[in-house]
Amino acid sequence: MDGINNSMKKLSMIAIDGPAASGKSTLAFRLARSLSYLYFDTGLMYRAVTWLALDRHLDIKDEDAIVRLAEQTPIDVSAPSLDDGRPCDVIVEGRDITWEIRKLEVDANVSAVSAYAGVRKALTVQQRRIGLRGKVVMVGRDIGTVVLPDADLKIYLDASAEERARRRYQEILDRGGEADYEVILRKVIERDYLDSTRAIAPLKPADDAIILDSDQMDADTVFETAFDLCK
Ligand code: CDP
Ligand code: CDP
Repeated sequence: MDGINNSMKKLSMIAIDGPAASGKSTLAFRLARSLSYLYFDTGLMYRAVTWLALDRHLDIKDEDAIVRLAEQTPIDVSAPSLDDGRPCDVIVEGRDITWEIRKLEVDANVSAVSAYAGVRKALTVQQRRIGLRGKVVMVGRDIGTVVLPDADLKIYLDASAEERARRRYQEILDRGGEADYEVILRKVIERDYLDSTRAIAPLKPADDAIILDSDQMDADTVFETAFDLCK
């Protein structure tokens, strides 16, 4: 046991990247809990800016206005205050938007917002500052490539679009909602395309990332595989 703990001490920054619904947040949350590290999901920062832009009825195509929003709005992420399944609280301008940022309207616009250079610059600075403090499991699209290129362990979690759409579909049903699998699949593919073809910090595995294809793996197996890599 001591041996494991000693070798784990060397790991300080863990980067988890991959496409939508590949299981990044689920894995990162469990890893962070097991290692007593901070869990930090960078996607929620892009979602928070997108939510705020929609709430203010800004035109998502108005790059200058969206960049100003990203530069000027503090996004407060803290330990969960409610026991409703949330991994953390997301507060913007005093409003709890933890669940609001998961809405389909945000899903549909977040890739456009996250493609703006000014938005990425503003959010990357904040993410790096948090990451470099260490003892962190950070989740996103560009953590291993751009935000924390010196991360001690980089995992790129993948799965087919069909399997990922099935997971999102199941999630919505489990929460008592209604969903159309074909619509979800189309949106997952659209978002993958936008995220992986954008000019700045596109979704792709870092050269030194370990790629895990989770199509045939349940969340427990993914966690056990990743936890072994931490050793
Ligand atoms: O949970 P899911 O994989 O669906 O998405 P997310 O991690 O919440 O990220 C939402 C969106 O934010 C992604 O589709 C990307 O457009 C953007 N994002 C990014 O560009 N860079 C990151 N490091 C994290 C998210
Ligand atoms: O963060 P990301 O969008 O990559 O995915 P997630 O929100 O962590 O996971 C999406 C859903 O897939 C959750 O309901 C998980 O329980 C489920 N799942 C998983 O995370 N890993 C698997 N290997 C299989 C399913």
